Amino acid sequence: MAGRTQEALYAEIDLELSWSEDELPQVKRTKHVHSLHPYLGKYVPQLVDVFLNRYFAPGDCIYDPFVGSGTTLVEANAFGALSIGCDISAFNCLLSRVKSARYSLGELELALRRALEKGRRQAPAAADEATPWLRSWFAPRALEELLAFRSAIASLQPEHADVARVILSRAARSARLTTHFDLDFPRVPTTQPYYCHKHKRTCRPVDEAAKFLTRYSSDAIRRIREFSELRTERSVTVLHADSRTVELPTRPDGVITSPPYPGLIDYHEQHRYAYELLGLVDRSNEEIGAAASGRSRTALGAYVDAMSAVFANTRSQLAPGAWVLIVVNDSQNLYPEILENAQLTLEDRVTRHVNRRTGRRAGEFFEDILVCRGQ
Ligand SMILES: C[S@@+](CC[C@H](N)C(=O)[O-])C[C@H]1O[C@@H](n2cnc3c(N)ncnc32)[C@H](O)[C@@H]1O
Repeated sequence: MAGRTQEALYAEIDLELSWSEDELPQVKRTKHVHSLHPYLGKYVPQLVDVFLNRYFAPGDCIYDPFVGSGTTLVEANAFGALSIGCDISAFNCLLSRVKSARYSLGELELALRRALEKGRRQAPAAADEATPWLRSWFAPRALEELLAFRSAIASLQPEHADVARVILSRAARSARLTTHFDLDFPRVPTTQPYYCHKHKRTCRPVDEAAKFLTRYSSDAIRRIREFSELRTERSVTVLHADSRTVELPTRPDGVITSPPYPGLIDYHEQHRYAYELLGLVDRSNEEIGAAASGRSRTALGAYVDAMSAVFANTRSQLAPGAWVLIVVNDSQNLYPEILENAQLTLEDRVTRHVNRRTGRRAGEFFEDILVCRGQ
């Protein structure tokens, strides 16, 4: 696509999937539960909406083998479809479940308020209740406040406790000893004042967490309430499993998904604080395309094998003729082989201009939607 005029470029891309900032401002891209917790690597919900309307009907069952933060499940539910999501990351499964569950809002709000209050009155936890990682990444006061909230939510009923665990995790993310401009992948704890590139002044590392717990509890309630007005009664199932081998409880009518790209993001590591605080099972060794595995020829070969296995396993469990929509930035041209191995036929390849919304030409980013069906 490099070196093309804007006009020639736009003749080849799907404009319905390539929004400008005015058409799709950030507030809409991060609407209601979609921003319950930060997550690097999700797709915009409006993309899923277009696919649902083009290829599916209410009452269908949609499967996402890489459910991530649950974007597909939330949009499918609002559309009136049943949905199933699978992910290898326990935190992503928790987040997807919390976003898509139905709550009695009054009870949830009361439970969270009581937990905040109980956490405030809790005696400080002994430092040895925390792992060495937690002790190095939080100031003593911040860690005490996080641990107090953690013990206060232990007695909540399961669905309320899950919401509280997401709030705890979000507060922990904000309270880490890190700079304001490197919240995604900070390498070492920042313990001294530093020059902040984001705020253009000297900033200090955070030393408390209680204010985040309070702020994010209110924000979570507000977001869940907003989604509850759009939510349907359709079932949502989240499976914590490897999508190469997972057995689905029913036969889906189609797939909407965005797979991990090779060597780009470590999906467990980005939420390390949540694994450490919540004691979640770490299955990072089964994560496909992890950044830690790099992009060597061997790593790309392993990626092709793993993706072929995911889509073959998926295809074998779909209803006949089901659509499989895969959102990829296949810069290495790996997907023709993956689709062939998985016995999926490419019916259409739609290109979308991802950062049309920035209005800049530099660093333009395109993504393909592979529209496939089982052979
Ligand atoms: C690009 S993200 C999906 C983002 C999602 N579309 C969203 O909007 O949040 C890819 C996901 O694949 C998951 N994943 C990686 N290997 C997996 C495996 N073997 N089985 C299931 N999920 C896996 C990662 O944990 C990550 O959440």
